[in-house]
Amino acid sequence: MKISFAEPDQARPGAVIVGVWEGGVLTPAARRLDEAASGAIARALSAAPRFKGKKDELLPIVGPANLPVSRIILAGLGRPNLANAQLFQHLGGNLVAHLNSAGEREATVAVDVDEDALIGQSEAAAQLAFGARLRAYRFDKYKTKQKPEQKASLDRLTVATPSPGIAQRAYEPLDETASAVFFTRDLVSEPPNVIYPETLAAQARTLTDRGVTVEVLDENKMGKLGMNALLGAAQGSVRPPRLVTMEWHGSPPADGDNPSPPLAFIGKGVTFDTGGISIKPAAGMGDMKWDMAGSAVVIGLMRLLAARKAKVNAVGVVGLVENMPSGTAQRPGDIVTSMSGQTIEVLNTDAEGRLVLADALWYCQDRYKPRLMIDLATLTGAIVVALGHHYAGLFSNNDELANQLIEAGKAVDEKVWRLPLDESYDREIDSDPADVKNIGSGRAAGSILGAQFIQRFVNDVRWAHLDIAGMAWSTKDTATVPKGATAFGVRLLDQFVAQHYEKE
Ligand code: BES
Ligand code: MN
Ligand code: ZN
Repeated sequence: MKISFAEPDQARPGAVIVGVWEGGVLTPAARRLDEAASGAIARALSAAPRFKGKKDELLPIVGPANLPVSRIILAGLGRPNLANAQLFQHLGGNLVAHLNSAGEREATVAVDVDEDALIGQSEAAAQLAFGARLRAYRFDKYKTKQKPEQKASLDRLTVATPSPGIAQRAYEPLDETASAVFFTRDLVSEPPNVIYPETLAAQARTLTDRGVTVEVLDENKMGKLGMNALLGAAQGSVRPPRLVTMEWHGSPPADGDNPSPPLAFIGKGVTFDTGGISIKPAAGMGDMKWDMAGSAVVIGLMRLLAARKAKVNAVGVVGLVENMPSGTAQRPGDIVTSMSGQTIEVLNTDAEGRLVLADALWYCQDRYKPRLMIDLATLTGAIVVALGHHYAGLFSNNDELANQLIEAGKAVDEKVWRLPLDESYDREIDSDPADVKNIGSGRAAGSILGAQFIQRFVNDVRWAHLDIAGMAWSTKDTATVPKGATAFGVRLLDQFVAQHYEKE
């Protein structure tokens, strides 16, 4: 789908979309079109009393005989004083879905905003285009038999706006964001016979072309560093593990100064999670190809920071393993010595993500002395029980950091909800024979115990853990995220960086 910006009121073929405020008040573009269509819009509104002009409402009308348009679609915009970036993103996304299901090939959207809207004309146009692009994502490379009607029909979307040049410039960074989001969605969507530790590391390596410094550690290197927690989780698989570091140096030191410490993002990259010897049930196990989503988000985020030349130093660290049962697999009861020196009793081989993160976080803080660390992981089924598919779980040792993440989440509609960490939970993962065990004794507080485990590998550094098990993929379409891999976290963390950590 090609997206472009153009001045309003030029005749174009295909569908025309105009906005209607709540209460049925036509926008200027809708009024002009109504006149040209000899009152067809006013007649349609009175024939459709349930269309109120609320946000997310669409009312299609057949193209009037006197105009060269295939159809007119009235788009509800809600209340003018609430019109913000999200409204226009959602509208863009909803329109793409609607036009594709109608089989439309071309469309022009002329949505003008009011004086008292929270967003300007050009910004609204850019956000609409962004939402449209995000929703138009498809992962269909393995579909060899799609009928024409199963493919996307919409080839061309034009956003009509008074200053198309300004809108285009506002859209460019959003287009980079969408490309990074799609890169992450692609990585997460690829099947586990295609994406495994070595191939995912190779994908991370492609960031080199964009100015990111990428290093890949193999199992020998990790062995020398003492990463036996990560290696234990990997040892059942014939596919060897990898640990990848990605450095973006966007804030070089002034002459004579030391480089400023980086922000660090750490991702769980279990390219397939069978559970290992503590094997998962067959039903739904295929979903565990998504268990590398945390790492794919970190890779996509690093790509985005480089693409937009973010004025910040950042490092991404991803631990990549495949968790398999086999004659060489780790056993429940094994005790491993992590890179930190702490011993871990592995009582359940299905609690493998925390083993990977234990060494990845330790390595990260040891090597980079980061300003803060944020890890992302599809860590626990329990977070889905607690929060469902609307919020990711947030855990942090720092209130300011937690609040910054909560705010960033609201701004980009990738919401996070904070849960507690506490000494009393920490006692539940004390091990009898070792320093720490990788599960608690019952089913209670599963997500918190996972976070407490990870915290044992965090020293005196600001840290947050995002449990994205409920958010990494979706079984339903939403306005800007078609079902499947969501890339949840890329936009959240990009916003977090842009808002608080970029040097002017
Ligand atoms: N990858 C899973 C968590 C998961 C479950 C992600 C469902 C997405 C959807 C993780 O490795 C796991 O198996 N966790 C266990 C932990 C338990 C053994 C303490 C779980 O949640 O059951
Ligand atoms: Mn598991
Ligand atoms: Zn897992």
